Amino acid sequence: MLFLSPAILASTDESIAEAARIIRNEGIVAFPTETVYGLGARFDSEKAIEKIFVAKGRPNDNPLIVHIAHPDELFVIATEVSTIAERLILSFWPGPLTIVLPKTPVVPKMATGGLETVGVRMPAHAMALALISAVGVPIVAPSANLSGRPSPTSALHVREDLAGRIDAILDGGDTEVGLESTVVSVAGKIITILRPGAVTRDMLEEIGQVQVVSPFFDPKDTPTAPGMKYIHYAPRAEVSVFVGQAIKNLPDLAHGLQQQGAAVAVVAFEDTLTEINNVTVKMTLGGRGRVDIAAKRLYAYLREADQLSVDHILVEGIKPEGLGEALMNRLTKAATHVIGG
Ligand code: TXA
Ligand code: MG
Repeated sequence: MLFLSPAILASTDESIAEAARIIRNEGIVAFPTETVYGLGARFDSEKAIEKIFVAKGRPNDNPLIVHIAHPDELFVIATEVSTIAERLILSFWPGPLTIVLPKTPVVPKMATGGLETVGVRMPAHAMALALISAVGVPIVAPSANLSGRPSPTSALHVREDLAGRIDAILDGGDTEVGLESTVVSVAGKIITILRPGAVTRDMLEEIGQVQVVSPFFDPKDTPTAPGMKYIHYAPRAEVSVFVGQAIKNLPDLAHGLQQQGAAVAVVAFEDTLTEINNVTVKMTLGGRGRVDIAAKRLYAYLREADQLSVDHILVEGIKPEGLGEALMNRLTKAATHVIGG
């Protein structure tokens, strides 16, 4: 097998077997899931986990998610699964839901950023499941981007960030969801959303009482999801997100900035884009009714806009409902300004 730096392996059985061999031998391999690409290591190797933190430049108190191929493996990882947690598993696994549970001693504290809890999920992706099964033990995996960059939704995004820093990339094409999993903790009947995702608030309300943690972290507080306190995506350009009535001002503002000599990228829904000419770059989120398509494209656009070195990225926001809650959560974290709303 040809090893570039890193090798991108196509989605064949031999590639999965090769990737599994690397992970078993304490190497690190990026692989696709239905949400974004993950950077995997065997869950029980501190040596391999250390490599993940180094490759990503990730602060070591930010915990990793353990990925399993079957709900039975949960009992290796977690000491206790409450009735509500069990119902969540029955309803949403395999799928984009990470559940925070009390960890067993076999999960190294290095994987959980020192916490006594562990985030676990079973991804809904054939290659990911085949890889975990072939490794034979669960895989810890954060998103396979450099810390502070948008999560990768293709093998090329992974290569952009991590070439030369990891052992291989399994290529499964573009990811289906495009945003990271919903992260929840459970206490009694209350489900707390620590990070919104494609398993939405409405879906979780079918199972229990739901509360949502604010996406903005006050540095005086202890964060509930340690990832919250870190800057997510801070592109070189100024990112302005337009919401509500302010969206109708987006075309004029884009033209105004461009006339002042700035390079402008507009990321918006199709019918907003048709009103905009003469800007450097236009990127379509699709039709306004299809938040799923917008979610799938967002991270690739933020990466592209950065590569084009524009000065301003103007983004059309949406109502924070359903999957829109996750999309707006990620957008407002990337934004310098939120206009309107
Ligand atoms: O969709 C996803 O979740 C992707 C794919 C690869 O599975 N993974 C991902 O991992 O987004 P990462 O490491 O980029 O984000 C994990 C998030 C962080 O915000 C982290 O703080 C939170 O989950 N988390 C993990 N373990 C936790 C725990 N024990 N308690 C609270 N939050 C936890
Ligand atoms: Mg991440």
